[in-house]
Amino acid sequence: MKFFIDTANLDQIKEAQALGVLDGVTTNPSLMAKEGITGKDNILKHYVNICNIVEGDVSAEVVATDLEGMIREGEELADLHEQIVVKIPMIKDGVKALKYFSDKGIRTNCTLVFSPGQALLAAKAGATYVSPFLGRLDDISTDGLNLISEIRLIYDNYDFETQILAASIRHTMHVIDCAKIGADVMTGPLSSIEGLLKHPLTDIGLAKFLEDYKKGNS
Ligand code: E4P
Repeated sequence: MKFFIDTANLDQIKEAQALGVLDGVTTNPSLMAKEGITGKDNILKHYVNICNIVEGDVSAEVVATDLEGMIREGEELADLHEQIVVKIPMIKDGVKALKYFSDKGIRTNCTLVFSPGQALLAAKAGATYVSPFLGRLDDISTDGLNLISEIRLIYDNYDFETQILAASIRHTMHVIDCAKIGADVMTGPLSSIEGLLKHPLTDIGLAKFLEDYKKGNS
């Protein structure tokens, strides 16, 4: 299972990278705005900065919603750095753009996916990644994890190569549940990754080991 961090915050990306388990980064226009990154030039520079911190894939989202605009922006993003994956929304022209980029060998992440049918279309169009937003489904009393299971089943039925990127992860249990289902990738906040570390018995056990060591070596 690949671990991506879902942020445009460079300090958090560095912290996750330092842990040694980071496989990539996902961003979106809201996350860029949250960091105060505005204006095309600054946004493009920020993507390059992120690529220079991590070794894996970095999803950069287009903001155009028409085919021509998505192609223009996507090609510009892909030219920025070899680690860039062009993030395309699940809309009609988005499906066409996925197919266009797939035919050109440019990697894509199909975003804003909320149904198995949308995920099927994304795979048919050749998306590298599909991003079902499980947290946002949970937010409206719909079972987000069930969507991940349905997509897993469909993709396995036909050996689709599109990777399931479980997105909109809210907490550590989402990570565990997605791992059980067999999501290929998860993207979440740093806290969802660091939460995997925690167990009180580990802390209690370590304190006891150190105490016993001190007793025997003083
Ligand atoms: C995915 O790539 C998105 O950036 C992200 O996971 C959305 O998460 P949110 O629902 O927490 O905004």
